[in-house]
Amino acid sequence: MVQRKIDKLREVLKGDIIKFVKLFADTDPLPYQEKFLKDSNHYQIFVGGRRVGKSFVVSMKALHYAWTHPNKTALIVSASKEQAQETFRYILNVINHSSILKSTLVRKTQTEIEFDNGSRIKVVPAGESGKSVRGYTADMVIIDEAAYVPDSVFDAIEPTIATQIKKGSGYFILLGSPAEPKGAFYDAWNSDTFSKHHATTYDNPYVDEKWIEEFKKKKSNDVFKREILGEFASTDETFFNIDAVRNVAIGGKHIEPDADYDYYFGIDFAMSGNDETVIAVVGINRNLDSPKIEMVNYFRYKNKTPSWIVWKVKEHIIKWKPKRIYVDSTGLGYPIYQLMKERLGEYGYLVHGINFSSKERDEMFYFLRELIEDEQIVLLNDNEFIEQFLSYTVKVRADGQIRIAKKKRAKDDITDALALAVWGVKKGSLTYTFMRDCSVDDLFPQKRTQDPFKLIGMGMRMMKF
Ligand SMILES: Nc1ncnc2c1ncn2[C@@H]1O[C@H](COP(=O)(O)OP(=O)(O)OP(=O)(O)O)[C@@H](O)[C@H]1O
Ligand SMILES: [Mg+2]
Repeated sequence: MVQRKIDKLREVLKGDIIKFVKLFADTDPLPYQEKFLKDSNHYQIFVGGRRVGKSFVVSMKALHYAWTHPNKTALIVSASKEQAQETFRYILNVINHSSILKSTLVRKTQTEIEFDNGSRIKVVPAGESGKSVRGYTADMVIIDEAAYVPDSVFDAIEPTIATQIKKGSGYFILLGSPAEPKGAFYDAWNSDTFSKHHATTYDNPYVDEKWIEEFKKKKSNDVFKREILGEFASTDETFFNIDAVRNVAIGGKHIEPDADYDYYFGIDFAMSGNDETVIAVVGINRNLDSPKIEMVNYFRYKNKTPSWIVWKVKEHIIKWKPKRIYVDSTGLGYPIYQLMKERLGEYGYLVHGINFSSKERDEMFYFLRELIEDEQIVLLNDNEFIEQFLSYTVKVRADGQIRIAKKKRAKDDITDALALAVWGVKKGSLTYTFMRDCSVDDLFPQKRTQDPFKLIGMGMRMMKF
């Protein structure tokens, strides 16, 4: 296209950002996106649930600004390097799909583009201290996933853009899903200076409602509030609902094994002299059509050597004949786990290790929580043990990942051991669900006679997890 025509197009689109997005991104902005795109306030904030199209729409805002205004710089700061790249990809995709935009590009690096009108767009990850963003002068400063950008970064950026705005030009735009009700992002949301935009994930018709329902089932109330409803809520809340725990804590102990039951062990090793190693025992009554998992006992040992523990476990194996044993094999637990596999000889195959820094560990706790909430488990009526459920919290980490955390110095050895034992049931019983569709011989031809995981007729929705 000849330069004259491009200049004309720039002039026309400068005052019509919606037309710009429709033309170059080849999509219709959603109503709340349109409202945000049209906002020309110097201070803007968009708080929303996940996947509402925040990063996409703000990258279009930056692209429109740089392309239609000469000699301007738009700086997009994101919480992490990956997020910065993702936002940059939205911009590059749109440019790549348009021969007009492409023809006006004079420079392109991994993190920066420049147009023939002298305007640039640059993306940077926030870092911890604000060092990465200090020294940039920009006419439009955007902070994406702003709840996860440290306040020190705001402190580094804000004064420069504020000076710019005082002079009559410049934009300071914040976006993200909310986190804790504190910090610079929260303060901006409550300040009169910013014009405000909000959307929930439900407002985006492109997001499958089934995904939202799954999310709701898996996450706690506060996580749902933040990530779907886009409301600020505490990120430090108890993972288990203690009332739901008490509701199922009605069981009694098995002192001796019951011949009608299959048993499973979970073992949490003590890591220091003061802690105790706990062996939790859960059982399932084979004679019932839809049995619940029952916690039937737990054993605690203090100040014992790994060899002693392994010897004790063997004694329990001989007595209870467990179908599976799950242990925490993280860190110092690893050598004990190895020792168990080695020393337990013919029983060694029963022992399975779980790495407590892995996702599987979180899945294990989600499974236990679901069993409790669905009343598919019976727990011991033991106050010391019940209190331990309060030790677990939900944390959103700086990279946006949701993980189950522990309160400092809280006791959790019995609940950890219980979660491991219950995980053994799930892993063992998964076979049961498959069995409905195919024969045992198809799956375990060589194990037909041993049948180590004895098929139990649990009336639970095993495959759901
Ligand atoms: N108006 C639109 N038309 C078509 N697709 C859209 C539109 N808005 C957003 N999308 C698409 O929806 C998806 C989510 O968008 P985006 O990454 O911008 O959301 P987000 O709110 O930043 O999400 P997150 O909270 O995960 O960072 C992307 O695939 C994006 O291309
Ligand atoms: Mg985003």
